[in-house]
Amino acid sequence: MDNTDNIFDVLVIGSGASGLNLALEMADFARVAVITKSSLHESNTYYAQGGVAAVLDEHDSVRSHIADTIDAGAGLCDEDVVRFVVESGRGAIEKLTGYGVEFTREGDQLHLTREGGHSHRRVVHAADATGKAIEITLEERVRANPNITIFENHNAVDLYCEVDKKTGSKRVSGIYALNTDIDKVISFAAPFVVLATGGVSKVYLYTSNPDVATGDGIAMAWRAGCRVANMEFTQFHPTCLYHPKAKSFLISEAVRGEGGILTLPGGERFMHKFDDREELAPRDIVARAIDYEMKRHGFDFVYIDISHRGADFIQEHFPTIYAKCLGFGFDMTKEPLPVVPAAHYTCGGVMVDRRGHTDIEGLYAIGEVTYTGLHGANRMASNSLLECLVYSSAAASDIKNHLDDIGKPSLPPPWDESRVTDSDEEIVISHNWDELRHFMWDYVGIVRTDKRLARAKTRIDMLQSEAQDYYGNFRISGDLLELRNMAVCADLIVRSAQMRKESRGLHYTRDHPKDNPETKLGPTVLVPDNFPGSKKTRET
Ligand code: FAD
Ligand code: SIN
Repeated sequence: MDNTDNIFDVLVIGSGASGLNLALEMADFARVAVITKSSLHESNTYYAQGGVAAVLDEHDSVRSHIADTIDAGAGLCDEDVVRFVVESGRGAIEKLTGYGVEFTREGDQLHLTREGGHSHRRVVHAADATGKAIEITLEERVRANPNITIFENHNAVDLYCEVDKKTGSKRVSGIYALNTDIDKVISFAAPFVVLATGGVSKVYLYTSNPDVATGDGIAMAWRAGCRVANMEFTQFHPTCLYHPKAKSFLISEAVRGEGGILTLPGGERFMHKFDDREELAPRDIVARAIDYEMKRHGFDFVYIDISHRGADFIQEHFPTIYAKCLGFGFDMTKEPLPVVPAAHYTCGGVMVDRRGHTDIEGLYAIGEVTYTGLHGANRMASNSLLECLVYSSAAASDIKNHLDDIGKPSLPPPWDESRVTDSDEEIVISHNWDELRHFMWDYVGIVRTDKRLARAKTRIDMLQSEAQDYYGNFRISGDLLELRNMAVCADLIVRSAQMRKESRGLHYTRDHPKDNPETKLGPTVLVPDNFPGSKKTRET
């Protein structure tokens, strides 16, 4: 392939629900490249279980979905954004069913399940493998579209931006990506670049996320000069399977939505002590309650039990979870499952406006990589896929409106490898990976203190400087890129946590255990030194 083949109208980095949906919406108008660091389907989206929240039941209302989202968000949701997303829910589901996604039905209606924080049944799902149903449908369409070129095993390294000498405004015009099949860095150019790279839960030792969730898009945008917000709000999912080989396999919140109860190993229920909604309280409350009970009693896990619903019901509603647990020796139709919390979702990220536009001209971000204002201090279950769908459509229509404004840029200059050598110390990278994920779990987890955050910060500073040193001197690898990006994100998480001197939503610190009424309610915003300050986020 010669170089001019790498010039497109739109570069989409990442191939989860947000990236693939945007690529499909753009493809009638533009030449689109989807650049993704593993195989096309590998993403958080593929593993999503519970579903997509949308108001479809006649007894439900947009007002109620908005109120529940704001309640779960503990005072930090942007109400206009919540309304925008919730009102777009029905349309997003109709688009997916139009594409051919086969959601679970009850007669001629979509079956709606329930999850924590929702006061109504409003979660559209495909049994307990909703993400897979969405991802493979979008994948089939993307693969069949002649206007979309797919680059699998291409790990985006950094954005390439140019500054207009007259106006001083910064515009993205391409990216560098490491083709991991041939170990070569390649340049791509386009007037529009979309980050759809997902979150950074992999920075924690225990996570429900697949290996790709290393915060690359957040780190790239930060390095390029974008603001990020609310990085202190990592969501821990309360119920992941406790088994050494299960890699924190998720036990969907829909299990609790359909009647599953949480018990201590002795069989005693405990959620009533923490919230009137018991097992269906928002996730931050349930995860903290489990953490508290585990630490108080010295237990390694608690149990979730839905066996009372009977084998037929369980196998019909939760076929994936049932089969997976059986593989680990647990029959959930007959016995409770041992569970622990694990890092699950990044509520903060790259700041964007209502069209998914960032602080840099031409650069958009959509999905879990972003901070939109929807989730506030705690995301409500199944609002994430909804946000991915709504914002990918919004960004696509904004890009369409500006496609004719900007000519195609030339490719960024070739990647310079003249001063680097092959690393002879891969052990340093794997050691630092492990160290980072361990201390993030121990010091920046469900319960924090000022001292633990300060300890984490000292270690992150050291790791960042080592990763940077490595990056400058040795040929890059996928592992090194991810370590460098996770260290940036860890730093953003800890700095944001240190700035929030109160406990709110997912950020709980023993040194400031209450909501601080004096706190001006708003996001925690971090501004990079190279922020293109003259330009504010575009208003829509
Ligand atoms: P992702 O789906 O994570 O996709 C990111 C993509 O970017 C991947 O293709 C990745 O390979 C690629 N990428 C990353 N870095 C680079 C790079 N440097 N270069 C190139 N490509 C890169 N949410 C709900 O609303 N409902 C649910 O039921 C639900 N269940 C969940 C269950 C599990 C187990 C998990 C992990 C999450 C769940 N979530 C759920 C959250 C939701 O799945 C995600 O927030 C959402 O899918 C994110 O979509 P996305 O498109 O933003 O990113
Ligand atoms: C789950 O099925 O419990 C995950 C839902 C979500 O993360 O929104």
